[in-house]
Amino acid sequence: MNIGFSKLSKQEKINVILSQLNCSNQIDLVDTEYKEKSLQKRFENFSENTIANFHLPYGVAPNFLIDNKEYILPMVTEESSVVAAASKAAKFWAKHGGFHTQIKSVTKVGHIYCTFDLDKRILFKAFEDSKEILLNRTRDITAKMDERGGGIQSLQLKTLPGLKNTFKVILKVKTCDAMGANFINSILENIAQNLNSIMVEKYFENHFEIIFSILSNYTPECVVTSRVSVEINDFEVDLMSSREFFTKFKKAIDIANFDTDRAVTHNKGIMNGIDSLVLATGNDFRAIEACAHAYAAKSGRYKSLTSAHIDDDIFEFSIELPISIGTIGGLTNLHPLASLSLDLLDKPSAEQLMGIIASIGLAQNFSAVRSLITTGIQKGHMKMHLLNILAQFDATSEQISSAKSYFSDKIVSYSSVREFLIEKK
Ligand code: MEV
Repeated sequence: MNIGFSKLSKQEKINVILSQLNCSNQIDLVDTEYKEKSLQKRFENFSENTIANFHLPYGVAPNFLIDNKEYILPMVTEESSVVAAASKAAKFWAKHGGFHTQIKSVTKVGHIYCTFDLDKRILFKAFEDSKEILLNRTRDITAKMDERGGGIQSLQLKTLPGLKNTFKVILKVKTCDAMGANFINSILENIAQNLNSIMVEKYFENHFEIIFSILSNYTPECVVTSRVSVEINDFEVDLMSSREFFTKFKKAIDIANFDTDRAVTHNKGIMNGIDSLVLATGNDFRAIEACAHAYAAKSGRYKSLTSAHIDDDIFEFSIELPISIGTIGGLTNLHPLASLSLDLLDKPSAEQLMGIIASIGLAQNFSAVRSLITTGIQKGHMKMHLLNILAQFDATSEQISSAKSYFSDKIVSYSSVREFLIEKK
């Protein structure tokens, strides 16, 4: 491999990949690109060593009623049946009053980790004495955010239990409609630099050291809930009485709350919906994933992110999780489809988008558990997957349409589709 690979032009990189790595794949990478040169350039600048655009399906789930407003939700996912499942749940709950969201808190957090090997009371005193100066020196970075109603909420020093002579400075901020990663990291590095100068130069040479500073993707004070509810009276859900259905449904949610083996798959299903919407709006789905799973384990045991209750014949189903996203900045304005998604959602504030994301997670979970306790998951899943299997066999459009009607009441599997195609030849 060429040592200065990143310095090569895009075509040179492609040549290296195709020749030196004996790549037999015949795909024309240029076909994956945007036609408009300036747009393509913008894409390539998102990341390093870009040699192609990697496409994923961009779908929409209609019929979402969230806080009494109708939405069509954009979803980017490669997994068959995720969009269909979200849409099905949306339609069901729209008939029963829709989703109701609540923002519990919007504070984000970052840390500076440092060490100090003298009496810790001296450090705490020096920190408190310097705090005003440290905050004043961030004013250039925070001025605009302050004007928008955000900015620094607090700055505290804490010990790090279990690690000798190690401390963390905790910065809490509000970032309004921005996700705020750059904002938080810039403040942290500014404070860390000034803290270092003050501590090392003024007080404790060789006794104080900054280890590193970074925002935390764990944001347990930036939390949203979404909830649906319905009175259990005499209607049918999937050939069951509503009472039978919701009682069994609640049992399935309780199982996910008690059994971590199940909770992981249960929450993965929730993230099918959440990630697809987070991705469609140009937000960082890895941050959302990491945070959601840490939150699911906040009690010391990994549990379901959703919960279900039946009280006085009312079934209530809800989700609570931290979601740190933005509707301005980052890729949200740069990626044309992210920007389309935000238009589709009627340009939401970050708080509104948190509620919408929580609702799609709840919807996705409702559909998954509904299938699990009734038909099983494979029926819907494999019906959608049929097209993928047919594509693997290069089926003609005639074969595809006869396969669709043939398999409408049969089990889809790789071998059953292969046999069908052989017989049809
Ligand atoms: C598949 O991607 C997601 C499910 O396994 C979720 C669940 O089991 O709840 C269907």
